[in-house]
Amino acid sequence: MTEKSKLNRRFFMKSAGATALLGSAIGSGVAIPFSASAKGMGHTSMSVAYDLNEDFNRIGSGDAKWDGIRKANRPHDVKFPMGVADMDFRTLPHITEALQKRLNHQNWGYEGPPADYLDNIVAWNKTRYDQGVPKGNIVNCIGVLDGVLSILRSFNPGGAKVLIHTPGYSGFFSVIHSAQFMEVENPLKLVDGRYEVDYDLMAEQIDADDIKVFLLCNPQNPTGNCWTADEMKKMGDICNSRGVLVVADEIHCDFVNKHSKYIPYASLGEEYAMNSFTLKSTSKSFNLAAHRTGYMFTDNTEYMDKVKSEGHQRGLLHTMGTIAANAAYKHGAQYMDDMRSYIDGNSHFLEKFCAENMKDVKYKVHEGTYLAWLDCSAVAKKLGGAEEGQRVGDLLKAFFIEKAGVNVNPGENYGKNGVGYMRMNLGTTHAKLHGALNAMKTAIDAL
Ligand SMILES: Cc1ncc(COP(=O)(O)O)c(C=O)c1O
Repeated sequence: MTEKSKLNRRFFMKSAGATALLGSAIGSGVAIPFSASAKGMGHTSMSVAYDLNEDFNRIGSGDAKWDGIRKANRPHDVKFPMGVADMDFRTLPHITEALQKRLNHQNWGYEGPPADYLDNIVAWNKTRYDQGVPKGNIVNCIGVLDGVLSILRSFNPGGAKVLIHTPGYSGFFSVIHSAQFMEVENPLKLVDGRYEVDYDLMAEQIDADDIKVFLLCNPQNPTGNCWTADEMKKMGDICNSRGVLVVADEIHCDFVNKHSKYIPYASLGEEYAMNSFTLKSTSKSFNLAAHRTGYMFTDNTEYMDKVKSEGHQRGLLHTMGTIAANAAYKHGAQYMDDMRSYIDGNSHFLEKFCAENMKDVKYKVHEGTYLAWLDCSAVAKKLGGAEEGQRVGDLLKAFFIEKAGVNVNPGENYGKNGVGYMRMNLGTTHAKLHGALNAMKTAIDAL
């Protein structure tokens, strides 16, 4: 069967409702062993409309994760780039179809987003998370970080400091710096294998420093924490009582492992919703980062007016990006469910592999995101530790690239307490993950 006819057949099955039927028979009920493509890795379940096990080749596309990293590390052969936070799968067929349809109309004059774009944002969040997104207070941003930047510029005119949890997303540091602010790191504490917040320290830091904004990441990159309602209320109470704005980056919300739950910060209650912004996007969930399309919202109209008038660009988006995002939210529920199961499978496989075969790398299944935070301090020790002026993460990165062909990100990129850790992206096929882990094991065993 040709690629085109396969796709057509899949669309036919979707439109005929066959996916729903087969989805309930196969997708959610009967687990398909994926040993055929990734020997002995366990089980996963998926819809028949796409094949997440497909060995999709990204090389040559000019992307950052494969082409960029492979080029930067020549002459070493990086067979397994697992640093940049995007995914290796073919996208949802409906996204491609929607984009192709628009491409066929060969005129590119001024154009707004699809008519039902905002409705689909509202529906996605309502259906999946029972989150009421105020349609009138949704503002476009070309990326979540750009939205954060707009908010920071509006609410932090005097250049006050921004509080972040660490280890925390590396992009937060750069966006804070590009707004010409400084961050204050609030180190998370590792308690029984899960990171927790030091609330007393958070309050002290806010009282002591000129902090106007707290940048919350939920689910958290890189620890993978899905914050509980209780945890977020404690953080929110500290901020609300001190006049500190909460900016909730929830870009990873659609990736939650099975044992866990994502709770939207703004759903905690009126006082939390009214003193916060939330930012989301289809860019992680459906791997649409190249389309530069995100959104932010708040229940507080005054806040949104302030951003619009003081700090925001005009909020216009690229037409193709909105078409892709719209198709994703409109047609992607089953795909997202399947993706979640798939990443959950990868997380469990990784945990088992480390515990049984690669004991120098420690990892416990995380809660949300497709990112794994690996404790590689024992490997660093075996390597003799970092030289003067060298980061431990750079020593580990070089070792995994040179000896295993695996690219993972240094823990120090995520804050001072990231030393000894590496961040691994699990948004790839079971087979590639298996290949990467085998290569890492072989390299470590040879030490
Ligand atoms: C927590 C978090 N926020 C924002 C971003 C970047 O989003 P965007 O490309 O939409 O700016 C990422 C990407 O890895 C992320 O992990």
